[in-house]
Amino acid sequence: MRVQRPFVRLKLAASLDGRTAMASGESQWITGPQARQDVQRLRARSSAVITGIGSILLDDSSLTVRAEQLGLPDAELICQRQPLRVVLDSQGRIPENAKILRQPGKTLVVSQAECPAFFSQLASSQDTSAELEWLQLAGTEAGIDLLALLEALAQRQCNEVLVETGATLAGSFIRQGLVNEVVLYQAMTLLGSEARSLVELPLQKMQQQQRLTLTDSRVLGNDIRLTLVPVNHTDTAD
Ligand SMILES: NC(=O)c1ccc[n+]([C@@H]2O[C@H](COP(=O)([O-])OP(=O)(O)OC[C@H]3O[C@@H](n4cnc5c(N)ncnc54)[C@H](OP(=O)(O)O)[C@@H]3O)[C@@H](O)[C@H]2O)c1
Repeated sequence: MRVQRPFVRLKLAASLDGRTAMASGESQWITGPQARQDVQRLRARSSAVITGIGSILLDDSSLTVRAEQLGLPDAELICQRQPLRVVLDSQGRIPENAKILRQPGKTLVVSQAECPAFFSQLASSQDTSAELEWLQLAGTEAGIDLLALLEALAQRQCNEVLVETGATLAGSFIRQGLVNEVVLYQAMTLLGSEARSLVELPLQKMQQQQRLTLTDSRVLGNDIRLTLVPVNHTDTAD
């Protein structure tokens, strides 16, 4: 790690028409099993997996690494180290019964709000192997201060993080120039014009467009994986 910030990889999955979910929020599954296995491997190599509360409320995601989906001979061993799961939840909306709070390994909820009583009780409960932490961080207009978040993760020895989230938080990371690499799984399907866009990026002029450089492309079953680097990514290493 060269700076006090981890390497940030943003994973996105989209249809051919660049949509990530239906207007209702329904999004499972756009891509096929090979792409999903690849995502499992991305999770496994990451120190932390970051998501927004929007994805938790809509998908009730667990964000775990699962041995049966890794397809590797040492999968069970790999799964003994789960990446830190990080939920950005400014207002403390995480439901008490959210699946992510009951998974093996550690979950960090980052909020501007105070830790709710149910969370403290769950954190001290002996009934689950889940480790829970509530971190209060400063906010910005968009939500949690992402720079402060990345610094907090660097202090926790995270050197590579995976952002797996919806268009809102993905847009914030891109707008702030905090993404080092984008991994886009493009599925050969059309979700239509009512569906949600890839990233929330309200641009008006062509000169504002965010270009990316393609560094790798490969076919995974019926999907394509593109690895991209945002042009003008502000690397603060200097
Ligand atoms: N295709 C894919 O790759 C993929 C992956 C994951 C999810 N999804 C889909 O995406 C949808 C959910 O997306 P979403 O856009 O509604 O939610 P999201 O991006 O997962 O989460 C957004 C929420 O995170 C919180 N947040 C905290 N700090 C933030 C910051 N600095 N910037 C932005 N947000 C911040 C905000 O809520 P507070 O203000 O309350 O904190 C915000 O509303 C679901 O339909 C899910 O299925 C798709």
